[in-house]
Amino acid sequence: MYTILKQNIHIDCGAGPLRETPRLSFEYLEEGMANHGEYLHLSKQFCDDYETIVIGLGQQSQLSSQRVKACVAKGMKAIAYDKITTCGIHITHLVEEYGLSIVDALVEGIMLGLYAPVSYKQTQEEPAYQVFLCGIAPAMVQRVKQRTTYAKNLAESIILTRNLVNMPANYLTPTTFADIAKDIGQQEGFQVEVLEETEIETLGMSALLTVGSSGSKRTRLIIMRYTGDPLGKTTTALVGKGITCDTGGYCLKPSQSMLGIKGDMAGGATVLGVMRVLAKNQVKSNVIGVIPTCENRLSRESYVPGDVIGSMSGKTIEIINTDAEGRLILADSLTYVQKKEKVDRVIDIATLTGSIVSALGFSTAGILSNDKGFAQDFLEAGKTGGEQYLQLPIYDEYRKLLESDIADIKNVGASYLGTITAGIFLENFIQDIPWIHVDIAGTAWVDSPVFEYQAKGATGSSVTTLYHLFDSRNV
Ligand code: BES
Ligand code: ZN
Ligand code: ZN
Repeated sequence: MYTILKQNIHIDCGAGPLRETPRLSFEYLEEGMANHGEYLHLSKQFCDDYETIVIGLGQQSQLSSQRVKACVAKGMKAIAYDKITTCGIHITHLVEEYGLSIVDALVEGIMLGLYAPVSYKQTQEEPAYQVFLCGIAPAMVQRVKQRTTYAKNLAESIILTRNLVNMPANYLTPTTFADIAKDIGQQEGFQVEVLEETEIETLGMSALLTVGSSGSKRTRLIIMRYTGDPLGKTTTALVGKGITCDTGGYCLKPSQSMLGIKGDMAGGATVLGVMRVLAKNQVKSNVIGVIPTCENRLSRESYVPGDVIGSMSGKTIEIINTDAEGRLILADSLTYVQKKEKVDRVIDIATLTGSIVSALGFSTAGILSNDKGFAQDFLEAGKTGGEQYLQLPIYDEYRKLLESDIADIKNVGASYLGTITAGIFLENFIQDIPWIHVDIAGTAWVDSPVFEYQAKGATGSSVTTLYHLFDSRNV
């Protein structure tokens, strides 16, 4: 058995019981009471009911949503280490100065700081935490409560994404992935349709089926539909790579690269996390989430380098490297959303290339796009959520690298420009609608945390950004 979502963190807020707490200014903290993320245990000094902590946020001019998340998470890790399970955080000045939106970062910092990966050990500790956001002006309490609920739903969805990505490939197969998506759709109120091989074949998605036939498990196409704005004009497709196990196929990965192979469905898990929070918070937008999911392994059926395969678009693809499988299953899914679903713009998200790690490391994801305004909105949403992105260019001379002698396109360009040519491969399957490609191969997984709100393993990166892209309300 596995746990998809533990509910062991309770967050509440109110005016008291710290009404009488003196207002602690930023300067006061900077004078050494507590440095960035260090917490100061005020214990019963201010309040009889709660352990009270103060978390230093550093210089006011440097404050950002990422900083708040990281500092709060560090404070939470410290209290967890000290085995404190109930605490109050005094947030008066933060909300007064930065408004309600700061609550998102605060709650993310609390939930993610206290996150522990699901364990498969026979015995395990499962502490339950109670965190109280206190010292809120009475007139604001209701609004902070509402915002806390939204933010908690967001943080839980990030945790859902993390848990899915951390799941071993023998637990999370394409069929269990589909079952989980169905369960979540049913719980939260969005429609989930799962296509099996015969239906995928009828649609002509041979690139997806070719990759899937290399695996020992079935292939599935998960389609999720959320209509939060029935009268709205725009529907966005979110397509996430769902390779539950990427050994590389015949172009087998070296053993050191094998450890992270269960995380190659992070794009798909991100899409499911986003669908969950959109529905849970009843965000006013229309989104169709699509996850092509299968394994990329060795079997007698496996495709091999040199093969030419078909695709739903009609384009033929020459296989140069069987480890460049993500773009194949995404290509067919991009065609699917454009031909079979009514969508106005599309974002795909994937752990697509090792090159993005060489270029930007583990803290920053790469994006490519054919639409300036759309990319700008995405980057803006990233800032709101405290996540980092860099847009990479698409030039005509780069496009040439994917020309094949014997097919319409080949699946790998040169030994350089790995991330860009992977993006350009996908661009070939976009027909004149705004599109963004997000490569999260660096950010989806950390062997040691880069930011305090991360734990070793899956990060749940980009759920926050996508949520903020779709949710513009400020309540
Ligand atoms: N899933 C991998 C990309 C990846 C690498 C994700 C490292 C996470 C960490 C992808 O399927 C892959 O293997 N890409 C190849 C493409 C190459 C053969 C052109 C890569 O980047 O090495
Ligand atoms: Zn691969
Ligand atoms: Zn892969």
